[in-house]
Amino acid sequence: MGRIDRLLAEMTLEEKLGQLSMSAAEFAVTGPTSAQGIAESIRAGRAGGLLNIWGGERTRAMQRLALEESRLGIPLLIGFDVLHGHKTIFPIPLAEAATFAPLLWERTARVAAEEAACDGVNMTFAPMLDVARDPRWGRIAESPGEDPWVAARFAEAKVRGFQSSDLAAVDAIAATAKHFCAYGAVLAGRDYAPVDVSERLLREVYLPPFAAAVAAGCAAVMPGFNDVNGVPMTAHVDLLRDWLRQESGFEGVVISDYNAIAELMTQGVAVDLAEAASLALTAGVDIDMMSGAYLCGLPAALSRGLVGMDQIDLAVGRVLALKERLGLFEDPYRRGSQNALVASRRGLRRDLARDVARRAIVLLANDGVLPLARDLRKIALIGPLADAAAEMLGPWPGAGQAGDCVTIRQALTEALPEAEILYEPAVGIDDRDASGVAAALRFCRDADVVLLCLGESAHMSGEAASRAKPGLPGIQNDLARAVLALDRPVVAIIGSGRPLILPDLVEKAQATLATWFLGSEAGHAIVDVLTGAFNPVGRLPVTWPHDVGQIPINFSVRQTGRPADSGAPYASKYIDMPTEPLFPFGHGLSYSCFIVASLHAEPECFRPDDEISIAAEVSNLGPFAGEETLFLFVRDPIASVARPLLELKGVAKIALAPGESGILRFPLPARSLCFLGADLAPRFEPGEFRFFVGPSADPAHLACVTLRALSD
Ligand code: BGC
Repeated sequence: MGRIDRLLAEMTLEEKLGQLSMSAAEFAVTGPTSAQGIAESIRAGRAGGLLNIWGGERTRAMQRLALEESRLGIPLLIGFDVLHGHKTIFPIPLAEAATFAPLLWERTARVAAEEAACDGVNMTFAPMLDVARDPRWGRIAESPGEDPWVAARFAEAKVRGFQSSDLAAVDAIAATAKHFCAYGAVLAGRDYAPVDVSERLLREVYLPPFAAAVAAGCAAVMPGFNDVNGVPMTAHVDLLRDWLRQESGFEGVVISDYNAIAELMTQGVAVDLAEAASLALTAGVDIDMMSGAYLCGLPAALSRGLVGMDQIDLAVGRVLALKERLGLFEDPYRRGSQNALVASRRGLRRDLARDVARRAIVLLANDGVLPLARDLRKIALIGPLADAAAEMLGPWPGAGQAGDCVTIRQALTEALPEAEILYEPAVGIDDRDASGVAAALRFCRDADVVLLCLGESAHMSGEAASRAKPGLPGIQNDLARAVLALDRPVVAIIGSGRPLILPDLVEKAQATLATWFLGSEAGHAIVDVLTGAFNPVGRLPVTWPHDVGQIPINFSVRQTGRPADSGAPYASKYIDMPTEPLFPFGHGLSYSCFIVASLHAEPECFRPDDEISIAAEVSNLGPFAGEETLFLFVRDPIASVARPLLELKGVAKIALAPGESGILRFPLPARSLCFLGADLAPRFEPGEFRFFVGPSADPAHLACVTLRALSD
């Protein structure tokens, strides 16, 4: 008999339910819980996992309790939200997505895993894979943006990074793909709200990132708080059991979101904990995070015949199998014992954090004021985000400390020792105190350039941080207007967890940078871009709207019978604002000037098993060396089901010196042009396909070549 069967044979019902329960150790998101209480639960075998605890000593103490003082000595899962760094904090996921660099996504996850594992953590509740197209939703900050192809690449990179090639390795942690699924489509962008989506949208947009995570070997999946078409995800048999386990072949652990099983009662599908627990277990949820529903509800569910012991055993078996995969039975203390090793690589991690952060910055607009001239004497550094270390961490800071973050002010002072920096926050992020504005305006009048650092606080995005008006909070718009009226060169530096609605600002400022929340090295990264020490490469992973009225917004939409650009009076457009966004998906300027000189594709006619090869010649016509990112989109103009105007199929980058040209290649298996027919079965249809290559999803800047698909 193997270990798992032996343990299952020995366990009491309470011990089994303990393995299916994850509790907060010393602190919980919603309030403190008593360490004493948790110690008792571990001893009694009622807690198989802990969350929100880290630190070698603390986690070892908890593992010791489980191993030495509980009857069966089963080690603990120790989970923590390591989203974009543990102690070294990298840019928020939305910002990391803007780098369009899967290798970097993987490296940051690797470093985060090393640091977290060294703190005794063996499981992270990441990557977050919710495709997000609504900037009102605060959790867009945690997401890889609006596109399923990008989210799928993000999923693979993050799973590889967190788990490495061997989950039992001392520096590997179990990844949890969340929040399964379609959480990004919550009604009106309000967190936790219901979701109604077609099966087509699920299969084309919301499921592919999870399929990619499963294929990459992701250890765990977390259902979202949302419902999908009326069925809460925590109890969604069709999606959790039929799609996730059967169709996609997931064999890992499903862990509920925080208290989500008990919330099935509030969502109106369960009358008591026993029903809630049985619904979740039946759908295939193995671990109950924080609700106590399994411990308190499953005994009653068993006696009422709502669930069987075989279902409980199956779930316990999966949890124990994960503990085995993590090597916890061999030595649960190894992960908390690598301090010296991790400490020795601090410099490398900071270098990586700086590099990723500057690659995540998107230069939205620039009339030539950037990079800053070298001979600036006086710089006005204005705004509430200019020296705001804690905000740089973003809404899920892991174990990161504000004291470890470099602010814009610190980095600017370091980089330009000769310049006089006139610093004045002027206003708070979200208050109405204008007492600092007069001093700020004085500084601006006196300065060669104004750096205006505006935006949200970190906690205005993330969980439960939906905003009906996702613009500059407080009186920052008033400050911006007053500064812009002075007629000085202004660089707007916008920190946020989402695209913000910025009336007039982008148009009136001489340059605008989207700097998101960039983590520990935020200040250095921003100043590197300002000074030209780094030539910006970041691209928008989400469409940036003009106004709230355009939301939800994304580039990959189907054509209507009355297109906006048809010129017809009865067209699919707004009569009071543009249909186009302020900035399209993929937008981002460089100090170089790139053009696509030519585009070739072959074979002219292809069959499903062929490989299509698309090659774009790119030239750098600007005065700076730089890196260009090009996107490959596909359009199937006539098909049995209307297809999107643009579908992303590839991203490629090339570094070019001034005057240099090079070729970017996009290999594409013809089979990837399959789509779901009217019956939702995949099909490959003969006919014309258009391939577009360009720097963003803006149709005005796309080169096009047409090829023909032949039937099988
Ligand atoms: C969030 C999850 C997170 C969990 C544990 C929940 O409120 O929705 O994303 O992993 O808390 O902290």
